Amino acid sequence: MISEHAKQRMRELTQRYPAARSAVLPALYIAQEEEGYITSEGLQAVSEAIGITVDDVESVATFYTMYFHQPPGKKVIKVCNSISCYLRNCDAVLEHLEQRLGIKRGETTPDGNYTLQAVECLASCGTAPVLQVNGEFVENLTIESTDALVDQLDAELKAKKSEARL
Ligand code: FES
Repeated sequence: MISEHAKQRMRELTQRYPAARSAVLPALYIAQEEEGYITSEGLQAVSEAIGITVDDVESVATFYTMYFHQPPGKKVIKVCNSISCYLRNCDAVLEHLEQRLGIKRGETTPDGNYTLQAVECLASCGTAPVLQVNGEFVENLTIESTDALVDQLDAELKAKKSEARL
């Protein structure tokens, strides 16, 4: 459910831009923060706050990879596949992650632990290849460091699950 507070924040955003529709992207972030992904209620709230049609909001939301259209995994891994990362072998990292997690890019593991995405430039080209886990950068990736990362994430998820049982 989109809270009144979130709707108010969306409306306030429109004051910060010369054209209200420029606030669509940050308003969609607010909708995603509220519900974890972009729901039809989220689209509706953005549409009302900005004053454009739901179809227009949806066309923006579906264009950008940072918006989820179904609940994402607990760990969202975004691997850059733009030119600098491509030249430094991000494809091998992506393929390795697909194999290790048992999913293709764009998918979420059945246990809801991981979502894997291939994304455009993350603006850290000097440390390519690069990925983000829930927004945190991991740089200068190798297959070995990627494996170590997944080991660490698995351990975190396991610890959280144990905590939840207590
Ligand atoms: Fe990968 Fe820029 S090309 S961070």
